[in-house]
Amino acid sequence: MAPIPKGGTVAVTGAAGFIGGWVVRDLLSRGYRVRACVRDENDANKTTFLKNMPGYISGRLTLHSADLNTAGCFDDIFKGCHGVAHVSHVNGYGDDDYMAKTCAHIVKSVNESGSVNRVVVTSSVAAVVSESNPKEMHQRPVVYEDRYPDGDNPRISGYSRSKQQAEQTFADAAEKSALWDSITCCPADNIGPIQSAHQGDFGPWQGLMKKMLQGECNPAVHGYRPWHTVDVRDTAAVQIALLESVMVKNGERYIAFNTHKIDLDEVCTRIDQLLPELGYATPDLSENLDAEGLAKRARSKATYAATDLRNDRTVALGIAYRDMNDSLRDMAESLISVGEVDPVLRDGFSLHK
Ligand SMILES: NC(=O)c1ccc[n+]([C@@H]2O[C@H](COP(=O)([O-])OP(=O)(O)OC[C@H]3O[C@@H](n4cnc5c(N)ncnc54)[C@H](OP(=O)(O)O)[C@@H]3O)[C@@H](O)[C@H]2O)c1
Repeated sequence: MAPIPKGGTVAVTGAAGFIGGWVVRDLLSRGYRVRACVRDENDANKTTFLKNMPGYISGRLTLHSADLNTAGCFDDIFKGCHGVAHVSHVNGYGDDDYMAKTCAHIVKSVNESGSVNRVVVTSSVAAVVSESNPKEMHQRPVVYEDRYPDGDNPRISGYSRSKQQAEQTFADAAEKSALWDSITCCPADNIGPIQSAHQGDFGPWQGLMKKMLQGECNPAVHGYRPWHTVDVRDTAAVQIALLESVMVKNGERYIAFNTHKIDLDEVCTRIDQLLPELGYATPDLSENLDAEGLAKRARSKATYAATDLRNDRTVALGIAYRDMNDSLRDMAESLISVGEVDPVLRDGFSLHK
């Protein structure tokens, strides 16, 4: 199927979110028209950063309230769009009927739009590898797009299952329609700058770094696994490359990952190394782990050290991934400056306000 035309119109679901916000900004900077779908366009906490983007004042960016739990909510929004970047979360993962219902809402609006050529579905690396099954990761350590988690594994997460279900539902619907195609983006762990304070409260990674900065990150509570990083701006670039590419085909998946892994406790020390002027009082994340917790952490490190998550297909699309350190630095600085996080600092240091 055809890619979206240059300067065409793209609807972005989850536009107020961490990834969606960057997809919107990047689309605008590349000359597209954007319909940003949020649950409540009047929620100033979430939408002010969108309204401050260049493009809003001229009308090239418009905001639309839509809750994907409501049938028909995207009907009017998608009419006239060439592409849809479906980035939003849903309200619950692991419920097959609920997933089928929400996917059907979007599919119906795409089918009835009369104009959409391509949908990019945001899935996850969790739909490629089921992180709750270390045994499986030892057996199949190379993690790339054609790999799927073992469906018989009872420990597979509801998130992983639902993401696979959504990928398949959209690809099947696209094939049936023969008017549009559905390409999947599978992002790794997104780091990089938040654009709005509310984004610091969501998301596993920026939320965890916020806790680190506040001296509250506790691996015994928040879980332990190394981060497999990708800059949120690069995930947005992958989504747009998938909308624009003439090479991609319906049902294909593309992993967004910069090939850098970093252990949870190392993130804390890295913040201090990258921002020495800040004087961050780097916590020792082993403190709250008992013998069992330390053993679990060692097992997790060993398992992930042996896995090989690949990004070959997105590199072949022309994506040049940022260095992880730049993303970590930008995330920490944005959490403090945009998110107004008050970091724990060593004696003699203070923020430059
Ligand atoms: N962050 C990561 O590291 C990561 C990694 C892999 C995959 N992903 C996937 O990437 C996507 C975006 O993640 P994110 O980190 O950007 O999440 P996020 O910051 O929490 O944003 C998700 C957005 O989903 C919207 N949303 C939730 N329920 C909705 C509903 N019922 N109807 C319409 N919109 C709804 C929210 O809209 P409002 O703000 O308007 O309420 C929110 O802005 C998700 O599909 C996630 O599974 C993320």
